Amino acid sequence: METIKNTDLEIALLIQQETERQKSHIELIASENFVSNAVLEAQGSVMTNKYAEGYPKKRYYGGCEFVDQVEDLAKERLKQIFNVKFVNVQAHSGSQANMAAYRAILNPHDIVMGLALDQGGHLTHGHPLNFSGVDYEFHPYYVSKVSEAIDYDQLQAEVSEIKPRLIVAGASAYPRILDFERFRAIADSVGALLMVDMAHIAGLVAAGLHPNPCEYADIVTSTTHKTLRGPRGGIILTNNEEIAIKVDKIIFPGIQGGPLMHVIAAKAVAFKEALEPSFKTYQIQVVANSKAFADEFLRMNYHVVSGGTDNHLLLLDVLSKTGLTGKKAENLLDKVNITCNKNTIPYDTQKPFIASGVRLGTPAMTTRGFNENDFRLVARLIDKTLSNPSDEAILTEVKTSVKELTDKHPLPY
Ligand SMILES: Cc1ncc(COP(=O)(O)O)c(C=O)c1O
Repeated sequence: METIKNTDLEIALLIQQETERQKSHIELIASENFVSNAVLEAQGSVMTNKYAEGYPKKRYYGGCEFVDQVEDLAKERLKQIFNVKFVNVQAHSGSQANMAAYRAILNPHDIVMGLALDQGGHLTHGHPLNFSGVDYEFHPYYVSKVSEAIDYDQLQAEVSEIKPRLIVAGASAYPRILDFERFRAIADSVGALLMVDMAHIAGLVAAGLHPNPCEYADIVTSTTHKTLRGPRGGIILTNNEEIAIKVDKIIFPGIQGGPLMHVIAAKAVAFKEALEPSFKTYQIQVVANSKAFADEFLRMNYHVVSGGTDNHLLLLDVLSKTGLTGKKAENLLDKVNITCNKNTIPYDTQKPFIASGVRLGTPAMTTRGFNENDFRLVARLIDKTLSNPSDEAILTEVKTSVKELTDKHPLPY
């Protein structure tokens, strides 16, 4: 930071302010995490200077002897984490990983089924304004109105009717274990392909706390920056050599140019961390914290979607308990330094930009050392805030408690 301060004070100050914000807020956005200093260093390294179009030993530029080794290490580590034969680590983001995966296995306008976007699916699972919704004919599947979880019998019936070319499993806001074995059987029943987007749960899969989609799916995609706790980026995994060859061609030269070698170096560092026993301990705590967090809300008579959680996140219906929309809850919590995002709940009566709920995740604060008691306290602080939206004295009290918690668990930056 010393150099930036001397050359570009405006940006230096903004980075400093963002660092302070991260330090002083309770971060509950389920798709965020705090990377290690080693990951930060790798991403901020001279690897950013290098053009390396192509793949290790088959580059379009000279001077690639070291970046080749970086990419090979990233690939080998990734294969080891997920026990999979073929990987591509060049996707710049989760969205680009999904674009490459679709192009590898689909033709334009093919029929695809993905979880409804307002029930936890992602933009790249068929939003009409997203490339996925433009290039393919997406049909949503829905969670059960009763259990608020995927009803696999219902899914089987919908799949038998629609006969998609591809089923996409995976979500941005789904608190339950995904039954990949059942997804596979349902796909097989109509000769469909199965893709799993494990962006949210990759860290749990890596730690053996969630079934591994690589055992069941034709192709698996992920981001590297959520529970996996690496730099922002995407990855693609498969046990099918034919698909792997297509994926490599589609990533480059199909949809990307030079790979971000500094990001790939940071991915490699994060993958090494994910192979350490401490990573499993961390993920066990992520899930324990999430369950304790959900239990505390249930104890306070909140409607927690699907009655709880099996993973790193929960969906809290704030409207039914507090009368506040998700949007209002998000803004109010921001005032007391608790960061989260509004989220629709299944069969929501509110529009997505208003929403009835908030999505709460434990990965980031677990990285900072929060345990179950800390999360139970955070649940009570959230309730106190949402139950007293206009009481400035109470909001100030909550903010003080947030400061005590964040001071107790500092960030190492
Ligand atoms: C399930 C899922 N897939 C893909 C993505 C896209 O990742 P990115 O934001 O890196 O494009 C996300 C991001 O939130 C996600 O939740």
